[in-house]
Amino acid sequence: MTPAHGAPPSGFSEWVTALEARHLADLRLQEVTRALRALSAAYVDRRGTGVRGALDSPGKRAAFALYYAPLHFLTTHLVVGALGAETPPPRTIVDIGCGTGAAAAAWALAAGGTPSIAGIDRHPWAVAEANWTYRQLGLRGRARLGDVARLPPLVPGSAAIAAYVLNELPEPVRTRLEARLMDAAARGTRVLIIEPIARRVAPWWDEAASLVEGGGGRADEWRFAVELPPFLERLDRAAGLDHHELTARSLYCPGRAVNRLEHPGAHDPHRGTR
Ligand SMILES: C[S@@+](CC[C@H](N)C(=O)[O-])C[C@H]1O[C@@H](n2cnc3c(N)ncnc32)[C@H](O)[C@@H]1O
Repeated sequence: MTPAHGAPPSGFSEWVTALEARHLADLRLQEVTRALRALSAAYVDRRGTGVRGALDSPGKRAAFALYYAPLHFLTTHLVVGALGAETPPPRTIVDIGCGTGAAAAAWALAAGGTPSIAGIDRHPWAVAEANWTYRQLGLRGRARLGDVARLPPLVPGSAAIAAYVLNELPEPVRTRLEARLMDAAARGTRVLIIEPIARRVAPWWDEAASLVEGGGGRADEWRFAVELPPFLERLDRAAGLDHHELTARSLYCPGRAVNRLEHPGAHDPHRGTR
């Protein structure tokens, strides 16, 4: 478990303010906190199969967009920074199960805002929200409706992120996706997988971690002390939650295969570390 701190990038608090205006235009804060309690109870109860109906009401969608998405953004920002995954900036970032676009947006901003983003999600609401997120944060990106089983080409020099999504996939779909990502990593794509720390959410974790480590990547558990923006803290308290620290675990393949082939003697500092 690695403790770390870090300030959010510029643009984050403006995005949270814009989210507040967008999602509280038609809903009262009380409705959102009620939905947030239901959503977080469902997340706590899940057993490695994702949460059915997580986005099936306006209240839950608003709760996800207003609360979980910024937390996923902050966590991804901190994980990317701790891994040094922002340099050199990837040319593009494929966001697998992009939701409202938070994870790839955090990586792109950590990398200086230059990477373009290709988001994929099966939920039309999520796709529309992700496109709004990219615009709000001044990023080049386009989300589209699609399934994780059919990804765009993952080319050397690009990156792919799957944040809080593998645990929602049926096992055969997840293992095929893992294989696809490992193959892309071996050809020079940076791959980052982020999941909650609770073991029951991802009982497959250790096996996936061995696969990644065997391919020259690393597996980590993180604990970040954070000070949430006042609005998120208000939601946190209203929903009976407590996020004075963010925890997550990650699998990361630095995608250095191409460089290793170009410089066969080069030392890869990430190889075999944990
Ligand atoms: C918990 S959300 C995480 C969203 C985002 N990655 C984040 O970090 O905030 C999981 C997302 O995965 C999407 N998803 C689940 N199964 C999918 C599939 N088979 N193909 C595409 N998207 C999928 C859901 O629609 C949802 O938006």
